[in-house]
Order: sequence, then structure tokens, then C-alpha cells
Amino acid sequence: MYKIIEKRELAPGIKLIKVLAPEIAKKAKAGQFVILRVDKTGERIPLTLADWDQKEGTITLVFLEVGVSTKKLGRLNKDDVILNLLGPLGNPTEVKDYGSVCVVGGGVGIAAAYPIARALKEAGNKIVSIIGARSANLLIFEDEMKEYSDEIYISTDDGTKGYKGFVSDLLKDLLVKGYKFDMVYAVGPALMMRAVADVTRPYKIKTIVSLNPIMVDGMGMCGACRVIVGGKTRFTCVDGPEFDAHEVDFTELVRRQRAFIEEEKKALEIFERGELL
Ligand SMILES: Cc1cc2nc3c(=O)[nH]c(=O)nc-3n(C[C@H](O)[C@H](O)[C@H](O)COP(=O)(O)OP(=O)(O)OC[C@H]3O[C@@H](n4cnc5c(N)ncnc54)[C@H](O)[C@@H]3O)c2cc1C
Ligand code: FES
Repeated sequence: MYKIIEKRELAPGIKLIKVLAPEIAKKAKAGQFVILRVDKTGERIPLTLADWDQKEGTITLVFLEVGVSTKKLGRLNKDDVILNLLGPLGNPTEVKDYGSVCVVGGGVGIAAAYPIARALKEAGNKIVSIIGARSANLLIFEDEMKEYSDEIYISTDDGTKGYKGFVSDLLKDLLVKGYKFDMVYAVGPALMMRAVADVTRPYKIKTIVSLNPIMVDGMGMCGACRVIVGGKTRFTCVDGPEFDAHEVDFTELVRRQRAFIEEEKKALEIFERGELL
């Protein structure tokens, strides 16, 4: 059992929880994730470590409520408990002094990009961050990203804050203006990561994305998280979650993410009628 010691709503549908999990906090590194089960009828869901505190023995998770499990998690409050929490899982971000690094975060992916930006900044890189959301009220982790960025740029799809357009358009603008990056990291929805990969490909900038396929066991046994990278099948939970963006088959990733969309819709309807607890 893992106790929630803090809970906040960061934006409509986006929640932050701080959970007591000293064993995970002790080993956590940027780029890693946990798999949790809210209760005994709950599904296993992967969430990226948005932060951790070894002294306090806590980890911080930020999640968007999209379906039954994330909505169930969102209903928990301070002092409630999560049944199972497994982690840290996945390979940590390869942290080196690359030079100038652009970290791109989209939507809830900004919280997942934050520890990556922090680790790369602490390793001596110049960090230019680009963060974006659909609208100004959905923009999260702006202050956290500012703390570890030499420069920060903001975009919103509807133009309510910063540049009007997608984070990938903003990245393209910076490149056209002459910005030089030794590396680009992108975390967010699959279509956003694909758009970033398309922008950096002609510039031959090494680009790393953190993939988010459906996961079940998180241990390389079930095959649920398989993705195609460089023409080969890879398991995101043990081989990733970070991969070379220019090698990822995003069409296949999106197809597999949507594989259970009808079942998920039905489960959510049942849950919202209060029949699935
Ligand atoms: C490594 C990794 C890290 C992630 N980190 C975060 C994070 O920090 N914050 C966040 O908000 N989301 C994160 N996600 C996505 C999150 O796991 C899904 O939104 C969540 O599992 C949805 O479950 P649900 O029951 O609420 O929704 P459902 O209605 O079951 O599904 C909604 C959509 O979520 C995706 N999904 C469903 N089940 C899973 C599953 N078991 N594993 C992965 N995706 C699933 C599918 O694309 C699906 O169409 C991450 C995913 C991965 C793989
Ligand atoms: S989640 Fe089962 S193999 Fe990766």
C-alpha cells in the first residue's frame, strides 16, 4: 500500500500526486516510470516519474484523466492509498554533456520532460525548452521547466498563450532562425513526437522520444508494449522507453495505442454510471 501525501489539480483533468514510496525514490532516475494499480479491480497503468525526493521518500506523478484507471486515481485524495506500485522501470535517460539541447514537452508530457531537462542541465548542457498545450489553462510545469532552462518558449494550439501553433512549429521556427541543437528530446502525445521527428530529420539532429504504448506487465514478458524501431520489434518497457525518433514507426505505435478504443469507451461509460468501482 502506498500513501498519497499530497494531491493537487494542476489544470482541468490533470492531477499531481505525491506518494510515499521510499524504495522507488531511492533508485529513481530521469526518464523512468512506474506501473501502478489503484485497487484490486484496477488495471495496471504506467506513469512517468515527474519528480522524486530521496530524503522525504516520495515520488511525484502527474496524470491526465483519460479513462477508468486514471479517473479512479484522480478520485483518490491525500491520505488515501494506492494498492500496488512497481518501479522504477525502464532505462534512464542517457545523461551527458551534449552541448545545446532542446527539450520539447507537450501536454501532460511536460511533467515527464521536466526531470530530463533538469538532469541534462545539471550535466552542463545549455537547455532550450519548448512547452506547449492546447490552451493556456492546460499548460503545466512552466515554473519547474523555467528553473532548468536557459531559454524557454511556449506555444498553445489556440494562441491563448505564447506562440500560436504546435510545439513542433515553434521548434521549426527556431531552427529556421539559426538555432543549433546537438540533441532534441521530445515527450508528449505520439503525434506530437512524430511531428518533432519530422522537423529535426532534415537538420540531422539526433532526436530522442519517450514512447507511450499500452503496457501491462512492464517486464518484457507480455509483449503489449511492442513497437517497431529501425525495422525491428522492441519492447518499450525494457528496451525503452526512449528511442531514436527518426527510427520509430509512429503509424504502428498510434494503431496499437488505439487497439482497445471501443472497449475503453464502454468501460468508461459503465464507470461513469457508477457501476464499475
Ligand atoms: C511509459 C509510459 C509512461 C506514461 N506516463 C504517463 C504520465 O506520466 N502521465 C499520463 O497522464 N499518462 C502517462 N502514460 C499514459 C497512461 O499510462 C495512460 O493514459 C493510462 O494507462 C490510461 O489508462 P485509463 O484506464 O485511464 O484509460 P483507458 O480508457 O484504458 O485508455 C485511454 C488511452 O490510454 C492508453 N492506455 C490504456 N491503457 C494503457 C496502459 N495499460 N498502458 C499505457 N497506455 C494505456 C491507450 O492509448 C488508450 O487508448 C504513460 C504511458 C507509458 C507507456
Ligand atoms: S509491458 Fe509487457 S512486454 Fe512491455
